[in-house]
Amino acid sequence: MGGSGEALAAPVPSVPLDLSVDLGSGLFLRNPILVASGALGYGIEAEDDLAPERIGALVTRGTTLRGRTGNPAPRMARTPAGLLNAIGLHNPGLAAVLERFAEQWARWPLPVILNLAADNVGEFAEMARRLEGVLGIAGVELNLSCPNANRGGTLFALEADSAAAVTTAVRRATALPLLVKLSPAAPDPRAVARAVADSGADAISAVNTLPGLVLAADRSRPALGAAYGGLSGPALRPIALRVVHEIATSVRIPVVAMGGVTTLSDVLDFLAVGAQAVAVGTAAIGDPGLPARLADELEDECQARGLSSHLSLIGTAQGHRPGNPSARGAEYRP
Ligand SMILES: Cc1cc2nc3c(=O)[nH]c(=O)nc-3n(C[C@H](O)[C@H](O)[C@H](O)COP(=O)(O)O)c2cc1C
Repeated sequence: MGGSGEALAAPVPSVPLDLSVDLGSGLFLRNPILVASGALGYGIEAEDDLAPERIGALVTRGTTLRGRTGNPAPRMARTPAGLLNAIGLHNPGLAAVLERFAEQWARWPLPVILNLAADNVGEFAEMARRLEGVLGIAGVELNLSCPNANRGGTLFALEADSAAAVTTAVRRATALPLLVKLSPAAPDPRAVARAVADSGADAISAVNTLPGLVLAADRSRPALGAAYGGLSGPALRPIALRVVHEIATSVRIPVVAMGGVTTLSDVLDFLAVGAQAVAVGTAAIGDPGLPARLADELEDECQARGLSSHLSLIGTAQGHRPGNPSARGAEYRP
């Protein structure tokens, strides 16, 4: 170029980049990319591929007060653009999880958020109490897509008052950063989101899986041992985008979005509808290095646009539509 007599292009000044995220109660992420619950277990086996120093946080698989053996196999089945899983909360129980993994998590260069599941409010609170002061636990995420034993098995996440009751009890039990994970099956996710925000949640995770069914090849039975399973992956993404859009315009606390994230474009979509951070679930199962690569790609994208942070990418597609009817309402009528 110099030899042709053209002026040398000025080097693009590299802007100092800050991708950090504040999820509340002292939980800071170095960047907005997380591993979603259940994708990489407790993170230990996948540690080398995961590159914990390059991602925002790891959310663990669901953990219950006492160990559970989980559902009969098969527990996962493929479906076009998605996956159906019915793990049934297979886990060794809270005490064993802490004994086996907490020390290692405390040495890791990223926050580990423990995903908790229970079928009653008291047990959620009891687990939270037992986490006080445990090194290695940076926060808790409540999986409210669990049947509430005191409401005939209706999921906590489907009813604003049930979701609020769990959140209030856990908030009283711990000062740890508290994320509450909502379901895309809620008739009005905005009401549930408002209820958990008003009950002391620091952030909302959205969304969990949606119940589905895949048949065995000969159609003699369901493919999964438990019959129904949770749909995840790209098939879930438009639903997740709608729910995150609804929630992010309804509450002031941060939303951590998930549902079919596979590429940088998906990450940017979720930021555009108002998410402060984005988690990768199904796509990380076969590719544990994907979340770190997406974090790098987001950094490159911000540099290329001359941004000093990702904040200006958040909420660009939100518009201003407060007071819309819920998903049951007029805007969704055919
Ligand atoms: C195999 C598998 C196990 C999961 N286990 C949990 C779990 O224990 N607790 C939970 O809250 N979500 C669990 N999830 C839901 C994910 O965290 C995530 O919300 C959902 O799959 C949507 O994101 P994705 O499409 O990127 O997977 C699980 C998902 C999968 C695929």
